[in-house]
Amino acid sequence: MTETRRIIIDCDPGQDDAVALLLALASPELEVLGITTVAGNVPLALTSVNARKVCELAGRTDVKVFAGCDRPLQQALVTAEHVHGKTGLDGIELPAPQMPLAPGHAVDFLIETLRREPAGSITLCPLGPLTNIATAFAKAPDIVARVGRIVLMGGAYFEVGNITPAAEFNIYVDPEAAAAVFAAGVPMTVIPLDATHQALTSRDWVEHMRGLGPVGAAVASWTDFFERFDKEKYGSEGAPLHDPCVIGWLLDPTLFEGREINVEIETEGRFTRGMTVADWWGVTDRPANALFLRSTDRTRFFALLAERIGRLDA
Ligand code: RIB
Ligand code: CA
Repeated sequence: MTETRRIIIDCDPGQDDAVALLLALASPELEVLGITTVAGNVPLALTSVNARKVCELAGRTDVKVFAGCDRPLQQALVTAEHVHGKTGLDGIELPAPQMPLAPGHAVDFLIETLRREPAGSITLCPLGPLTNIATAFAKAPDIVARVGRIVLMGGAYFEVGNITPAAEFNIYVDPEAAAAVFAAGVPMTVIPLDATHQALTSRDWVEHMRGLGPVGAAVASWTDFFERFDKEKYGSEGAPLHDPCVIGWLLDPTLFEGREINVEIETEGRFTRGMTVADWWGVTDRPANALFLRSTDRTRFFALLAERIGRLDA
């Protein structure tokens, strides 16, 4: 087996975040050093409950969950109950978590862990707004050079926006945080809507999940709920599993294709605030700062996801 990749997952569960957590926790190639939660799809109190519900569902109460920032750096919090439901994990009722939150703020966990572990040995996996990451970088600039890589779900190119005509939700919620992270100079893989809108569940796949066991059944119930938004808005066949694409890339980068380009974050635009301005055709001389993915091998991605989720129900 290749060397274990050590990761910290920063998330705003959200059904798709939850599936990403399950995929990571089921994959021996990954060592999850901790989970940090941020306000996004639903307020922080709920994302912090939901992350622990998922750890308990996966039988992984050994993983520490740290609550992070409860609002963006500058603007008021925008949430997405219209997509994820009131709890953020609508679709199935999971028991309230028994495991406690880990003591301390997520930002301090990020700083302490990056300072303690060997430089370059940790991959940060943001699945929500980038508030925690940007706050940690601002509070402790010395940790920036110690991050091995950031692999995040966010932004869009051709797919443009899902929360405004120009912006994808994770970036839109905290554009200042995104701008700081994209400018930090950390090697970055960006998985935008262009790639994640190809990671659509199919009815057969969902029914396969439902037949697995309690974990698979939860995934099926989440996607049954979560797919409504994209079916109504885009006429999609199924639910786009945005955040699991981040973990999928870590497990098998050949599942995706993209190129190293410059990506800037619009923070001033009256209509375009939160837009990822992706220089896909290299029309500027701005230096490349991200591997920006545009396509997904849907068949192989869902085969991997099914096999790994199946391990949790074995
Ligand atoms: O735009 C999709 C992203 O916003 C996903 O991460 C989803 O969970 C929400 O956070
Ligand atoms: Ca998310």
